[in-house]
Amino acid sequence: MVARNYQNSYERSLNEPDGFWLDAADKISWSTPPRLALDASRAPLYGWFPDGAMNTSYNALDRHVAAGRGGQDALIYDSAMLGTQQRFSYAELTALVARFAGVLRSHGVGKGDRVVIYMPMIPEAAIAMLATARLGAVHSVVFGGFAPKELAARIRDAAPAAVVTASGGIEPSRRIEYLPAVAEALALAGTPETPVLVKAREGFAAQAADHAGWLDWETEMAAATPAAPVDVQATDPLYILYTSGTTGAPKGVVRDNGGYAVALNWTMDNIYDIGPGDVMWTASDVGWVVGHSYIVYGPLLAGATTVLYEGKPVGTPDAGAFWRVIRDHRVNVLFTAPTALRAIRKADPEAALLQDYDTSSLRTLFAAGERLDTDTFHWASRILGVPVVDHWWQTETGWAICANPRGLDQLPIKAGSPSVPMPGYRLSVVDGMGGDVDAGTEGNIVLGLPLPPGTLTTLWGNDERYVSSYLAAFDGYYATGDSGYRDEDGYLFVMGRTDDIINVAGHRLSTGAMEQVLGQHPAVAECAVIGLADPLKGQRPSGYVVLKSGVDVTGEDLGRELIAMVRRDIGAVADFKHVTVVEALPKTRSGKILRKTMRQIADGDEYVVPSTIEDAGVIDQLIGVLRPAAGE
Ligand code: COA
Ligand code: AMP
Repeated sequence: MVARNYQNSYERSLNEPDGFWLDAADKISWSTPPRLALDASRAPLYGWFPDGAMNTSYNALDRHVAAGRGGQDALIYDSAMLGTQQRFSYAELTALVARFAGVLRSHGVGKGDRVVIYMPMIPEAAIAMLATARLGAVHSVVFGGFAPKELAARIRDAAPAAVVTASGGIEPSRRIEYLPAVAEALALAGTPETPVLVKAREGFAAQAADHAGWLDWETEMAAATPAAPVDVQATDPLYILYTSGTTGAPKGVVRDNGGYAVALNWTMDNIYDIGPGDVMWTASDVGWVVGHSYIVYGPLLAGATTVLYEGKPVGTPDAGAFWRVIRDHRVNVLFTAPTALRAIRKADPEAALLQDYDTSSLRTLFAAGERLDTDTFHWASRILGVPVVDHWWQTETGWAICANPRGLDQLPIKAGSPSVPMPGYRLSVVDGMGGDVDAGTEGNIVLGLPLPPGTLTTLWGNDERYVSSYLAAFDGYYATGDSGYRDEDGYLFVMGRTDDIINVAGHRLSTGAMEQVLGQHPAVAECAVIGLADPLKGQRPSGYVVLKSGVDVTGEDLGRELIAMVRRDIGAVADFKHVTVVEALPKTRSGKILRKTMRQIADGDEYVVPSTIEDAGVIDQLIGVLRPAAGE
C-alpha cells in the first residue's frame, strides 16, 4: 500500500490519471458508475467520466439523508445584516430543494434548460441552485452588485427558461431593490416574458405583484409537488458562471456535473481536511466561484455543515463579526479573501475584539481571490494561532490549482506562496515563446492539457472563444493569465495578471469593460483604465481620459458623470471612483496604449518605456499626474 501523502498523490495523478480519478469517483454516488475517466475524443476540449451518470443535487443532499444524517445541520444562515440565524438540517434542505425543483418544473424548466439566479446571500439562493441541478438544468448565478446591463448581457447569452430573484439585498449603507433591475435587464435582453420567481423580503418597496405574471416564492412552494433528482451524464453542464475577460463581453465558464463533484469532494478531504459533520464557513458570495464551490457544493458533497453569511467583515457591527460567527457555529475552517482580513486589521490592528470570542474550534484559515500579502499572512497567523493557507485558483478552474493540502500532509507554509500544484495540474512557468524558465525567474503560468476534472469544459456556446482565449497562446497548455515564478522547492509565487483584468477587493473586473463605458461619453476622445495598488482592496481602478478638442466641461463635472456611468452600466461592485483628465495617453506606434507602463509609474515601480513608443514626451507629462494618484 502506497502512503497517502502529497507527493504520492500528485505523482499518481499525473502518471496514472485514470486510476487516480476513478478512485476519487468512487466516493460519489452514481446511477451509472463510470468505467472511463478521461475523454480525449474532442481534444483539445476534454471531458471526464463520459460513461457515468449521476445527479449533483442528490449527491449534495439525499445521499446524506439516506446515510442516516438527515438530522445534521446542512446549512446555517447567519445574517449580520438582520441579526438573525436559521439552521437547515439535511432532511429539511433536501425537502425544500425538491419542492423548489417542483416549482421550476411546473414553469417549464427541464433538463438542459438555463435558470438565471440573481439573489443576495439568503438560503433561497443555495436552494435555487440545488433545485436547478436537481432537474438536470443549468444555473447561472449573477452577483447582486452587477447593474441591469450586466445582468442583461448574461440573460442574453444564457437564454434562461426562468429567472429566480428576491426583493433585494442589504448593504450596510442602503437597501438594493432587485426587482426594478431584473425588469430592466429582461427588457434590455428583449425577453420580458421570461417567468420570474421572487422570494419576498421585508423592507423593500417593489413586490412581485407589481409585475404581471411574476411569481411569489412562498405561494409557489405551497402548491408545488416535490421533484426527484434527474439523472444526467457526468459531462452535462451543471452551471455557467460569467467572469470578466479582457474585452467587455463576459465569458460564460461552463462546469460539468460529474468531474466537478468528484474534484470538489476530493478537495474537501485532502485540501480543507473537512469531513461529515465538520463546519466550513466561506465568507464570500454565491455570485462568485468561491461561493459556488465552497459555500454550496463542496461542503454539502462532503456531508459537512456550511455557513452562509450575509454581512461584512467590518461594520456589521464591528471588526469582531468574523470571530462571532466562528464562535456561534463552532466553525472548523474559515475561507475568506485577504481584503477582508486587511479590513479587519485596519479597524482592529491588535485584534482586541478576538478576546471576546472563543474561536478554539478553528483549525485552519484559507485565503484566495487575490495574493495573500506577507504582512497580512503574518498578522493573521499571529492573532489566530492556526495555519493560514493561501491557495490560488480561478473561476475557470473551479478549485485550487495550487494549495497546501492540509488533509494530506503538513507541508511547510511559505509566506507569499500558495504552495504547490494540486493533483492533475501540470504546472509550468514559461517565457513568451513557451519555453520553461528557471526556478526564480518570472514568466507566464500555464497548465499542461488536459486539465483535471472540475475545471471548465468550454465557454457557453463558444468553443472557439474558449480555444482562442486560453489554449491558443501556448501550444498544449491552458494559459492562466497570471504571471509568477517557482522557487527551488517548487513552490509557486503568483505576482499578477498578464492581461487587463484587475482584482478589486477580491472581485475580478475587466478594465476593458470600464473603458468601453467611459468611451461612450460624448466629451471623451480616448481613455485608459488601470488598476492601482490599494492597501485595503489590493487594487482599485483609476481612469485617465483625453478630451475631444473644443469640448467645454470641467474635469470635476466630467469625473462625476463618468463615475456615475460606470456605476450605472457595470455596477457598484466596480468601485470606480477616480478619473483624471490628461493631455494624451502613452501609445506605441501601432496605437496600443501602454497601460502596464502607466501602472508601473503610478505604483512607483521600475518601468521600461518600450522603444516602440510614439511620443516619449507623453510619459514625462504623465509622471506628475500618475504618481500623486497612487498615493491618495
Ligand atoms: N449588491 C449590491 N452592491 C454591492 C454588493 C452586492 N452584493 N456587494 C458590494 N456592493 C457595493 C457596495 O455597497 C459598495 O457600494 P458603494 O460604492 O455605494 O459604497 C461597492 O459595491 C463596493 O463594495 P465593496 O467592494 O464590498 O467595498 P466596501 O468598501 O463596501 O467594503 C470590504 C470593503 C473589504 C469590507 C469588502 O470588499 C469585503 O468584504 N470584501 C470581501 C470580498 C470577498 O469576499 N470576495 C469574494 C472573493 S473570494
Ligand atoms: P476569479 O476568477 O475571480 O477567482 O479570479 C481569479 C484571479 O484572481 C486569478 O487568475 C489571480 O489573478 C487572482 N487570484 C486568485 N487567488 C489568488 C491567490 N491565492 N494568489 C494570487 N492571485 C490570486
